[in-house]
Amino acid sequence: MKKAILAILGACLLISLTPLAQEPFYQDVFRWDVPYVPTPQEVVEEMLSMADIGPNDVLYDLGCGDGRIVVTAAKRFGIKGIGVDIDPARITECHVNAVNAEVEDQVTFINEDLFKVDFSEASVLTLYLLNSVNLRLRPKLFELLKPGTRVVSHDFSMADWEADEKTDLFVDHKYHYIYFWVIPANLSGLWTLSLPSELSRFPVKLEIEQEFQQIEGHLKIKNMQIPIEEARIVGDKLTFNWVQKSTNGPRTWSFEGRATGHSLTGLVSSDSREKQPNLNWKAEREPNSMRPLDPETDRGKSLAEVWSRIR
Ligand SMILES: C[S@@+](CC[C@H](N)C(=O)[O-])C[C@H]1O[C@@H](n2cnc3c(N)ncnc32)[C@H](O)[C@@H]1O
Repeated sequence: MKKAILAILGACLLISLTPLAQEPFYQDVFRWDVPYVPTPQEVVEEMLSMADIGPNDVLYDLGCGDGRIVVTAAKRFGIKGIGVDIDPARITECHVNAVNAEVEDQVTFINEDLFKVDFSEASVLTLYLLNSVNLRLRPKLFELLKPGTRVVSHDFSMADWEADEKTDLFVDHKYHYIYFWVIPANLSGLWTLSLPSELSRFPVKLEIEQEFQQIEGHLKIKNMQIPIEEARIVGDKLTFNWVQKSTNGPRTWSFEGRATGHSLTGLVSSDSREKQPNLNWKAEREPNSMRPLDPETDRGKSLAEVWSRIR
């Protein structure tokens, strides 16, 4: 195994030093962060189906190659699409493909380094880059994208940010993996709840710890700490249960809320047998209690270190 790796590394070194490196294919491989390899059309269709595209979506493909993902999305769903590629030859192909598909009014192609582009407008982001490039991009996704934005990556993961869904397809003699994430709202920190009197006669706080889309938390009532159960965040929507123990047996309150900045508002319902209408609840966060969603990169560790630990 070691010998094989050394042989491959040796071959790469040799190629980079010989006249072969001057050939267009090898120039392309060595010039950009990622070489050009198009996504097979069947895989494009599956990526778009996983993104569950609606009429108001705006799709960005970072490193868009010949623009096939952007053009297919514009044609099939009538949406706006933006492709970014560093290679001017690819951008020329994008324009030709957009004209041929008659979607040139819906699409824009930007000849730029993807790390320099503001893609905050995206509601769907597609990628076919490399593990290392995804990892460099990851903090930017949390910084720029709105909660609820869907991210779909062909073949490459986001290291310790686990995918919400993953699938594979056997196309052109090989397996293609597709990873899917929804950008979560950042709900970490200490929240002061405003609850109906049926739930508590005392002030209640909720402390949430969050890493990427994984959350857990507990309610603080007087000097008690009660863990919340089945806590989940999908985009800006939080759900969790509060199980209250009493002499009449346990009673579960199911909370559902939407986050906007430092506010949460929603409805809470009970599993009690007497039919009760859903009640309103809301919460406000202490702004300074919020923590970054991507702990590794924000602790200033090098991404290479993160990646080597995970692999
Ligand atoms: C593997 S191809 C994917 C093409 C297309 N997204 C697809 O799935 O068919 C990667 C593309 O990223 C482009 N690329 C590489 N580094 C880039 C960078 N820093 N900024 C923008 N594009 C880049 C390459 O030119 C290439 O077209």
